[in-house]
Amino acid sequence: MKVLITGGAGYVGTTLIPQLLGKGHEVSVYDNLLFGGDYILPFFRNPDFRFIKGDVRDLNELKKAAKDADVVVHLAAIVGYPACRKEPELARSVNVDGTKNLIKATSNNQLLIYASTGSNYGSVEDICTEETPLNPLSLYGQTKTMAEKMLLEERNTIGYRFATAFGVSPRIRLDLLINDFTYKAITQGYLVIYEKHFMRTFIHVHDMGRAFIFGIENRDKMVKNIYNVGSEKMNYSKEQICEFIKDKTNVFVHYADIGEDADKRNYVVSYKKINQLGYDTTITVKQGIDELAKALTAIEFKTPYTNV
Ligand SMILES: NC(=O)c1ccc[n+]([C@@H]2O[C@H](COP(=O)([O-])OP(=O)(O)OC[C@H]3O[C@@H](n4cnc5c(N)ncnc54)[C@H](O)[C@@H]3O)[C@@H](O)[C@H]2O)c1
Repeated sequence: MKVLITGGAGYVGTTLIPQLLGKGHEVSVYDNLLFGGDYILPFFRNPDFRFIKGDVRDLNELKKAAKDADVVVHLAAIVGYPACRKEPELARSVNVDGTKNLIKATSNNQLLIYASTGSNYGSVEDICTEETPLNPLSLYGQTKTMAEKMLLEERNTIGYRFATAFGVSPRIRLDLLINDFTYKAITQGYLVIYEKHFMRTFIHVHDMGRAFIFGIENRDKMVKNIYNVGSEKMNYSKEQICEFIKDKTNVFVHYADIGEDADKRNYVVSYKKINQLGYDTTITVKQGIDELAKALTAIEFKTPYTNV
């Protein structure tokens, strides 16, 4: 199948590309290379890989890129609340107007799969199911919620509300909670953690890639629906994550009374709907921390944001 990935040069996309190529799909990436293009260099050798440098806000170029695609995986976005807070206009235009363009650039003969987020739920006391009302608290969650709604109304879309990703990818992100904590444990040797009982839910970036392939392979029963994507086994408090990190590093952890998450993410999510169709995650948080600790000890990185 011909698969177009908008924003395919990022953290998720660079993990997804080889998974799709490995399944025999023809993969086109449409990305404005906000973080550079080094991460996609290994794929150019593959005749089934194509790259188009472009912006999702450029309707004409997006139309050309999407014309022949059987499937469009829509990842392009300004991602995370710190990045959106820093450049709110950019976040609105890319996340919302860029998605409006994608609707104009595609038709209902194509399958769209949208990377939405659990941040759409906001702060919820009950277990979040796909029916839980959305109450996004940050600009990031608000723009993702708007884009998800438009796509589900207008196009043959599978909407995936992902847990928080973790793990190593060619374009590693260090602002994600587990990645950030492990990075700090290794580079500064201590962690100051607020809201230690807050519950979060996690998915390895490789399992995010598997979810897109699962959607393509099960499109008939999944289309026009929203799914929480993760695993019942992967809901943890921040304190539990820190204890796992302690097992792999020499970190000292201080649990503080001051500090708060702007997205107020404190929720337990049910993944029954997608698990019942046969999708589950394969990589545990402990495995991910092990992989991160090895990579971040060996290679030095700089990180502009933290998103805990
Ligand atoms: N990583 C997570 O925890 C997580 C969880 C839930 C959902 N998501 C969603 O998955 C998607 C991918 O996230 P990621 O972690 O790979 O982020 P990322 O920031 O690494 O990747 C985003 C990509 O989009 C590209 N991009 C940005 N603006 C663009 C524009 N105007 N036109 C074209 N391309 C543009 C960037 O260059 C980048 O390659 C996002 O939509 C995000 O909201 C991520």
